[in-house]
Amino acid sequence: MGFHRREILLGAAAGAAALAIPARLFAQGSELIRKPIPSTGETLPVIGLGSARRYEDATSTADLGVLKETLQRFQALGGTVVDTAPVYGKAEPTIGTLLEQISGRDSLFIATKVSTRGREAGLKQIEQSFRNLKTSKIDLIAVHNLRDTDVQLETLRGLKQAGRIRYIGITTSFDGQYSEFESVMKRESLDFIQIDYALDNRNAGARILPLARERGMAVMINLPFGRGSLFNATKDKALPEWAREIDCKTWAQFFLKWIVAHEAVTCAIPGMARPEYVNDNIQAAKGRLPDSAMRRRMENLIDGL
Ligand SMILES: NC(=O)c1ccc[n+]([C@@H]2O[C@H](COP(=O)([O-])OP(=O)(O)OC[C@H]3O[C@@H](n4cnc5c(N)ncnc54)[C@H](OP(=O)(O)O)[C@@H]3O)[C@@H](O)[C@H]2O)c1
Repeated sequence: MGFHRREILLGAAAGAAALAIPARLFAQGSELIRKPIPSTGETLPVIGLGSARRYEDATSTADLGVLKETLQRFQALGGTVVDTAPVYGKAEPTIGTLLEQISGRDSLFIATKVSTRGREAGLKQIEQSFRNLKTSKIDLIAVHNLRDTDVQLETLRGLKQAGRIRYIGITTSFDGQYSEFESVMKRESLDFIQIDYALDNRNAGARILPLARERGMAVMINLPFGRGSLFNATKDKALPEWAREIDCKTWAQFFLKWIVAHEAVTCAIPGMARPEYVNDNIQAAKGRLPDSAMRRRMENLIDGL
């Protein structure tokens, strides 16, 4: 399946204009490449922000200052998707505090998770997420790592019906959960899935990404750098000359463009806790994206390291 049949949407202002791009995807100037959420057609920029780890125990004023600058930079450059979870230490309340401090909070798409067992415990955790994030509306809540999926999905459906959340989904980052993940995708109607996928971790591409496309589910990609393993693998290597053909100037852009070029992928959420990472990673939502032949070339390069 090539890109010639895929539609992508470019730029916030151009939200309603779907362009069929021949051969390679392209976004001009400061516009970010956006892709639609299949269940509604709403579009999201293909690069979001993950908040695990570095946001978990940021307490000093200096740490919080850097995170605030990171979020502001992300927003200023057109980023919208921010992913968090109630089990990422203090990440949720930290993001809630920072959202209060930055202007234009409403332009952000906030995704969190429910990560516990039992209906009452799930509801309690979700209500705490609303308080942590200091909001009356959360864009997406997903069942984290298939924890008590059926019970929590029922709760999420009720909240969606009540208009308190806009989208529901499920997440994993473990191969051992893939077959159960597939079963849930087949039997449930979900807006989103979130799964691990990276140039050195391509297993989700075999069945789960095609299934998401078939089932009309948006796909958010976690661990796009394998928690940094791809940077370690390439740290003494120069980016190949041909990376210019897809407008990559850094390895981060190379890793991310390979992901977001997949036709099932809606966005990737690299962990970003520094403004300079935002400057770098957001460029992956600009310029040309690789077609399938180029993606294979990128895979071969990583496999050969
Ligand atoms: N099951 C789940 O639902 C699940 C599981 C895992 C993750 N997630 C989500 O996915 C997000 C991403 O995962 P992750 O943060 O663990 O791993 P990741 O995105 O694969 O890697 C993040 C790390 O890459 C480094 N980095 C980021 N941008 C860079 C750049 N431009 N240049 C050089 N290094 C760069 C940073 O390292 P340093 O900070 O060390 O410099 C950062 O911590 C999480 O934040 C979370 O929101 C969800």
